[in-house]
Amino acid sequence: MSLEIHDISKAFGGFRALDGVRLTIETGSLFGIIGPNGAGKSTLFSVVSGFARADEGQIRLDGQSLDSLSPPARARAGMVRTFQVPREFRHLTVRENLMAAAPKQTGESLLGLFFRPGRVREEEGAIAERVNETIRFLKLSAVADQPSGKLSGGQKKLLELGRALMVEPRLILLDEPFAGVNPVLIGEIMERITELNTRGIGFVIIEHDLEALTRLVPQLAVMDRGKVLAQGAPQAVLDDALVREAYLGGVS
Ligand SMILES: Nc1ncnc2c1ncn2[C@@H]1O[C@H](COP(=O)(O)OP(=O)(O)O)[C@@H](O)[C@H]1O
Ligand SMILES: [Mg+2]
Repeated sequence: MSLEIHDISKAFGGFRALDGVRLTIETGSLFGIIGPNGAGKSTLFSVVSGFARADEGQIRLDGQSLDSLSPPARARAGMVRTFQVPREFRHLTVRENLMAAAPKQTGESLLGLFFRPGRVREEEGAIAERVNETIRFLKLSAVADQPSGKLSGGQKKLLELGRALMVEPRLILLDEPFAGVNPVLIGEIMERITELNTRGIGFVIIEHDLEALTRLVPQLAVMDRGKVLAQGAPQAVLDDALVREAYLGGVS
C-alpha cells in the first residue's frame, strides 16, 4: 500500500518547479521531505493533493489513480493535506472550524435535507461527537469556543491537523507543521503525530528543521530545484555527497 508519485513535472511560466519527481511512500509510514526554500516541496503537495495540476506524470494512492480527481475527491479517497500557512476560518471558533471540515453526506443536498431530516440530524450528532473527540485529543478544550483567529501559531497548526483528521484519512500531508511553533508545542504536535501513526494513519511531513524531522521519521527524501536528490534513512541521506553539496553547502 503506497503513494506513488511518478515522474511529476510542473512549470510556472518557463520555470520548472518540479522536474521529474519520482517517489514511492508507504501509506502507513512516517515520511519526511526536506530541502531548501524554493525546492518545490509545497508545489509537490499541491500537485499530489489536486490543488495544482501536473504538466506531466501520475499519482496513485494504494493502486487508485488520482489524476482526474478533485481535491475533495482525493480526500474521500483517503488523503488530505495541510497548508504551510494555516487556512482556518478566522471568525469561526475552533469547534465550528472542525464541524465545517467534516465531509457531509445526506445534508449536503437539498433533497437529502428535505426527505431525510432525521438522517441529517443523526449525521450531525455523529460529527459533533467526533469534533469533541478531536478537541480532546489535540488538547484544545480550553480554546474550543474561541475564534480561531486568536489562537497562537502552534494552536493553529494543531487545528489544521484537526481539520485534516475530520476527513478520517489514511494519509496526511503536513506542510511545515513546526514552523513558528514554540518548542513545547512542537513536542506536543510530534506526540500527536506519533500516536496517530500507531493507529495506522500515515504522514508525509515537509520540514526544514532537520533535527526535528530526523527525530520523527525513519525515512526521508531531500529535494532541491524540483528534483529528489536522495531518499532513505536520515543518516544515510545526510551523508550523501550530493545532498551535502546542494543542501548543506558542504558543511561537515
Ligand atoms: N503559483 C506559483 N506561481 C509561480 N511560481 C510559483 C508558484 N508556486 C510556487 N512557485 C515557485 O516554485 C518554486 C517552488 O516553490 P515551493 O514549492 O513553494 O517551494 P518550497 O515549498 O520547497 O519552499 C519557487 O521558486 C516558487 O517561487
Ligand atoms: Mg513550502
